[in-house]
Formats: sequence, structure tokens, C-alpha cells
Amino acid sequence: MDRQWWHGKTAYQIYPKSFKDGNGDGIGDLRGIIDKLNYIKQLGIDILWLSPIYRSPFIDNGYDISDYQDIDPQFGNMDDFDELMTKAHDLNIKVIMDLVVNHCSSEHEWFKKACADPYCEEASYFYFREGKDGRAPNNLRSNFGGSVWDKVPGQENLYYCHFFAREQPDLNWFNPRLRQRIYDLINWWLDKGIAGFRIDAIMSIAKDPDFPDYPPDALGDGLCACGAMNESCNDVAELFLKELQEEVFRPRQTFTVGEVFSIQPENIEKYIGNKGNFSTIFDFEARTALCHHCAYYAYEKLSVAEFRDALFKAQQLSNEHGFLATVLENHDEPRALSCWLPAMWQNPMGAKALGTIQLLLRGIPFVYQGQELGMGNTHFNSIYEMKDLQSFEEYRRCLNHGLTDSVALGVLNAQARDHARTPMPWDNSLNAGFSTSTPWMRLQQDYQQINVKSEEQDRCSVLWHYRQLISLRHNDNFKETITYGRFEPQPNPNRHTIAFRRVTDKQCLLVASNFGENPVWLDCGWQARTLLSSGEHQLKDGHLILEAGASAVIQIY
Ligand code: GLC
Repeated sequence: MDRQWWHGKTAYQIYPKSFKDGNGDGIGDLRGIIDKLNYIKQLGIDILWLSPIYRSPFIDNGYDISDYQDIDPQFGNMDDFDELMTKAHDLNIKVIMDLVVNHCSSEHEWFKKACADPYCEEASYFYFREGKDGRAPNNLRSNFGGSVWDKVPGQENLYYCHFFAREQPDLNWFNPRLRQRIYDLINWWLDKGIAGFRIDAIMSIAKDPDFPDYPPDALGDGLCACGAMNESCNDVAELFLKELQEEVFRPRQTFTVGEVFSIQPENIEKYIGNKGNFSTIFDFEARTALCHHCAYYAYEKLSVAEFRDALFKAQQLSNEHGFLATVLENHDEPRALSCWLPAMWQNPMGAKALGTIQLLLRGIPFVYQGQELGMGNTHFNSIYEMKDLQSFEEYRRCLNHGLTDSVALGVLNAQARDHARTPMPWDNSLNAGFSTSTPWMRLQQDYQQINVKSEEQDRCSVLWHYRQLISLRHNDNFKETITYGRFEPQPNPNRHTIAFRRVTDKQCLLVASNFGENPVWLDCGWQARTLLSSGEHQLKDGHLILEAGASAVIQIY
């Protein structure tokens, strides 16, 4: 595998609306981010991913873009952005933006022109189709519920396609002129000095332009999840992605991370590595295992062993080919502690042990804002405290399915995207130091204890543990192994333990976390030393003895 500048780097995701408010209106913004760049630097971050800051009506919190070349006034303006770039550059932090080009906003001028004249150039940027026998062109269900089709305003039998909300019309990638416009705007941002993109919902561009009907799925509304079309059209996406990679990204050494779910082992080479269409893609194997067979309301938690198996499967798949972006949280997920760990370890010890795993796995780790503090889920008292359109839709589905209000709320309290979007707790003052006025969204209930200021003052905090983990990744003595070392599962742990080795010809590291109730013994040979740990452990008689809730990184000679 060719070496690239981004190998061995650690990334951090900011959800700008909830990170830090710089102008006192209760909404996070670019000035807030500028203000906190030193915090990010101290954490040891190399790459910063900003969720969308483009102009948007915010139906899906910025993932509905009405102008790709402007900053939304809620976040500031282009001068603020340029200042952010200069300061990040001075701190040696690369910035990547979110690239949302499966769809735009219904407020984008392309869509407005298309609706005004369905035969104009811009109309060909979208999927406009005639209805069939008085109904929508086909029976796909959008990711946010309901048909993927809505009528073009003012038209009797003409529909446009949207795989997400109706305010997010899908772009027609089959049109080369549309693709060129997308490439132009990508180049425009690269010229501004960004290092790359996280590429949103990109596999949704895989479409069959004939839009056939699909066999209805188990939800019982006669529709079929639109993902079924994506899965059957992966080859189409592949062509578009190859062009994008060869014509736009590769010549500029752009770092790209794709939001790609369910990779088939035989396809991995198409996505990552020397021949891949992205630099890396997120590892959603555990997330996919969680969603496996069920409707949103019927989800079941994974056991530690199932979670471990999913992580290891992805690691073994990518060992030979390239790097995955390891991820425990993002703006679409509940908090990792609450989602992946048993109740007894949903605390700072568990957060440290989980962080140890993520930061030492082979790949490019993405840490999500607040993860480094060990934030857990929020306890929402009512659906009215939530803000996300998906939560509203899923709540409605729960009720339709016959669940009571409180059971429905319980489902969302386990799974909603809102958990990731509560304001970042900077201190224990009113509004958690996030803003001088009431935040746009409620705070997580534990902010008086779990916040940056308190954790900075406590050397045993989750924050300090993350700082140490990232600093170990940068350490010249171990960088090569942590970056390029093979991943190998550690033999014979019990089902509560996640343990693996990172191995090169010259070095071997054992990484282990114990999420059980009892100590665990792991073989490590007689010559070993501890590089980093959380909780209690011993090296004795050729074993690493890890107490319950502990984690350790051990060098084996
Ligand atoms: C991606 C984003 C999510 C958004 C969706 C539609 O999955 O991560 O937040 O709602 O795409 O753009």
C-alpha cells in the first residue's frame, strides 16, 4: 500500500450547531470553533471534520444545502471560515468539510428553477418522473419515512425523487453536466485550502433510472426501503465514484471518507486502498449488526462479544487492503457508552476502556465531540425536547405500531440521533459554557460533572485518557506499529473482553479492555511492559491480568 499523508492521523468531528456559540444566540458557530481550536490541538487532533456549515433551511440540520458556496448566516460568514482555516493551518490541523451531493435542498436555486420549468436545464439535475396509474412512479420508501416521491409543485402527474426528506430532492448523477457542476464546487473548496471531505450518503446515488417497483418489505405499508435499490445498483455508483476519484480527488491527494454501509468482502478493494474510490470509509459493521433484522423500534443491544466480533470482522477485512475509519459515535448515533456497553460500564471507566479499543485499532479514528468526555445518552422527558426530524417520524411509527407514548419515548431514549446533538458541555455554569443564552437544544443531564473544565482539572478523567491515547499514536517509538501494524485477535479472551494485537516485524502491542465483572487473564509472555492503562492491571507469570472495567496497552518483547 502506498503511504499517504493522512495515514496514522486522528480525526475529530464537530457538529457546529452544538459545539460552541460565539455570538450569544444559543446556536454554535464558526467563531465558537475558532475559539476552541486550542482545545482540539491539546487533544492531539490532526484532522477536523465539520458537519455542514453551508447555507441551508435546516430541515435536516444543514444536510439540506441551498447554496454550496456560501456559509449559513447562523454559523457566520466566509471571513470567519477563512480565519478558521488560517488558525487551523497555524496549529497544523487539516480541515475537511461534509460533501452532501446525493441531494440538495428544495430551496436550492437549481430545484427552484426546475420546478418553475420542468423542461429547463436544471430540471435534468433531478429525477423527475411521471406517476403511474394515478400513483407515485414506484414503491420505494424514503429513509425518513413515506414515499420517495412527491409531486413537483404545480404539476398534476410529475414527481421528483428524494431518498431522504421531501425537502431534500435527489440529484441525478446520470447527467454529466450535473456531475461537472459538483466537481466545480468541490474544486472551489479545495482551492480554499481544505484537505478533503466526508462524503455524505454517497451510496444513495446508486439508482436504477427506470425506477421499477420492489417487493414490499416487512414494515407492511406496501413500500420497500430505498436502500434495496442502492444495493441492487452498486455497479452504477461504482462508475460515478471512479470518475470522481480519478478526475477530482486523486490528482489533488484529497482525503475522502465515505459514509458507506455494509461492505461485501469481495468489494472492499473498490472502496479503500490503492485502487479504492475513497481514501477510507467508516466502519459501520457494528452499527449494521445492530440494525440487522429489525425495525427501529425493535432493536436489540449487542452483547460485548457481538460488538467485538463486528469490530474484528471489519479489521480483518481491511488488514490487507487499506484503512477503515474507526468510529464509535457520530451525529447520527446515540452516545457510544449507552449504545455499546453493558449498564455497569456506562461510566468513566467504561468510556476510557472503550476509547482504548478505538484509538488502537488499525485505521483512522474519528472521535465525535463529547466522546472524549465520556458523555452518555440524554434522558429526554418528552418528544418535545427532541429536535430531529427522524425522531419525530420514528415516534409516529412507534405509535402507529401500537406502542404507548412512554414505550415510544423509551425507544427514542435508546436510539435517537438527538443524543449526539446536545450542546457540548464546556463547564458547569448555566448553559454549560456553551452559550450566554438559552441553547437551541437542551443540555445533557450530567453536564455539571461531565464537562471540559472539570475534566481538564482531573488527571484521571476520560479527557486525559483520550489525550494520552492520541499522544501514544503520535509517539515516534510506536507510530509505525499503531499505523501500519497488522491487526490480530488475541487468543482466548472471555466473552466480556475485547483484546487484540498490533504487529509488525519489529514490534508487538497487546491492547485489551475488560467489560466483565471479574478479572481476566490474557497471555502476553514473560517480557512485557505497560505503555498506557486505565483501571487496575498486573503483568504476572506471563499474563496480563486485567481487572473488571480496566484497559491496557502492553508492549510484548
Ligand atoms: C447522512 C447524514 C445524516 C443525514 C443524511 C441525509 O446519513 O449523516 O445526518 O440526515 O445523510 O443527508
